[in-house]
Amino acid sequence: MTVVPLSILTKQATHMGKDETERFVTRRYNNEATFYDLLYNSTDDLEYYRRLASQANGPILELACGTGRITIPLARAGHEITGLDLSEKMLDQARSKLKREPAEVRRLVKLTEGDMRTFNLKRKFGLCLIPFFSFQHLLSERDQLQTLSRIRKHLLPGGRFAFNVFNPDLTRAEGLQRLDKVVESPGQTSMRYSVQWFDRANQTTRGWLIYEFIGLDGVVKRKVSPFKLKYLFLADVKRLLKKAGFIQIALYGNYDRTKFSSKSPMMVFITG
Ligand SMILES: C[S@@+](CC[C@H](N)C(=O)[O-])C[C@H]1O[C@@H](n2cnc3c(N)ncnc32)[C@H](O)[C@@H]1O
Repeated sequence: MTVVPLSILTKQATHMGKDETERFVTRRYNNEATFYDLLYNSTDDLEYYRRLASQANGPILELACGTGRITIPLARAGHEITGLDLSEKMLDQARSKLKREPAEVRRLVKLTEGDMRTFNLKRKFGLCLIPFFSFQHLLSERDQLQTLSRIRKHLLPGGRFAFNVFNPDLTRAEGLQRLDKVVESPGQTSMRYSVQWFDRANQTTRGWLIYEFIGLDGVVKRKVSPFKLKYLFLADVKRLLKKAGFIQIALYGNYDRTKFSSKSPMMVFITG
């Protein structure tokens, strides 16, 4: 089996004046924005974020807010929230969903295009969130530390920061196309597949996300995005948080706040 060298993309990225993170992220999410809510329609984390939001002393900042999957439900629950994202097209989706909300919800939400590594909103928040593994889009330690430093500068005294990353599963098959999700809707079946390889030296998983939309006539429309995510182990995250000055850190193995163990699907962190 030949492994497709994603280094081609990395080189393109440098030549186009954008860095690797920005190139992978904007290309992928600008491609996926119109069907993101259909194929990433998870709700398992909603209750967890609602509870955190209800304990916040001050407005909420959601970094990498995407189409507002978390942002809008938190505003519906009465919280003032600012959502920031790098992908213009993901934010367009969030904006059009927000238009359909009542005025009292719309009033609570501010959406802004920006990079979590460099943002400066000139205000402070009681809670900052990076939901749905989005911290793993940050591929270098420099990017991770820059983001953590921006977050610290945007937190009110006693403010908290919550995010989650996958608990690395190094038994995942490499080079095999895996079916991750099927959604049946009237006249269409939509499928999400992934194929990945590990880059052990750089602690990344990279590969392709493949989307298929099958009509009643059996005709398949396909969209494909390359992806690259950092694989972080517990010791890596602890070291990063410490280096960035976060002292009190709670760790769980899932959104239900079960104890983290080596078998947990993810690491859920809450600081403060
Ligand atoms: C998996 S989606 C998550 C969206 C949303 N938080 C959710 O839970 O559905 C990842 C999002 O991270 C955004 N993103 C990735 N890197 C970013 C960065 N450096 N700054 C801002 N947004 C970023 C992408 O544009 C995308 O919308």
